[in-house]
Amino acid sequence: MSAEHRPEVSGADPDPGSAPGPEPLPGPAPVLDPGPAAAAGAGEPVTITVCPDGPLLVRGGYELLDGDDRPIDPGRATVALCRCGASSIKPFCDGSHKRARFRAR
Ligand code: FES
Repeated sequence: MSAEHRPEVSGADPDPGSAPGPEPLPGPAPVLDPGPAAAAGAGEPVTITVCPDGPLLVRGGYELLDGDDRPIDPGRATVALCRCGASSIKPFCDGSHKRARFRAR
């Protein structure tokens, strides 16, 4: 993982699927230019938290790449990655797992 593509961030919703009412979008649309936001988080340990019946929360000095190994700037330090397949903003979670009644088991 290269340090120049590390995301910087400000607080992400730790569980975008837990809030009642309309689901907040987890952030701006992904872009392929990592930009200045990519420098933060370098050297921090990466943690991935599995939310029950919800997304994977990724924190720390991670680098997010698309299928062609191009960096995706998530625009924040913590991202929620969809694992239900229902999100309209993949790879990010948009809360659709609740409407889809996603169950991990
Ligand atoms: S895990 Fe939240 S939309 Fe898929």
